[in-house]
Amino acid sequence: MKEYEVAKVKDIPPGESKCVDVDGDPVAIFNLDGQFYAISDTCTHAQASLSEGFVEEGIVTCPLHGAQFDIKTGKNMTMPAPVPVQTYTVKIEGDAIKIVV
Ligand code: FES
Repeated sequence: MKEYEVAKVKDIPPGESKCVDVDGDPVAIFNLDGQFYAISDTCTHAQASLSEGFVEEGIVTCPLHGAQFDIKTGKNMTMPAPVPVQTYTVKIEGDAIKIVV
């Protein structure tokens, strides 16, 4: 397993999200009430950026066609997303946000 330091805690306040690069893959990091979660940034429908989506109660809505995903599990909740998005393990060390792959 490998760890990638991708952002600082202060870069992503509660309610915010950020797209980062993890070994060439775009990953969306979300701060839900102080807890950090990471999923693939790429919507499984037509590749829109999920970090640019609307977030409410742990669900992100894709900005392009409105598919919804559970940020904690990656589960696709509504069409037109056909499959879940990949989730990533997030580790906080000091003020660093790390992704473990
Ligand atoms: S690209 Fe996300 S719903 Fe179509």
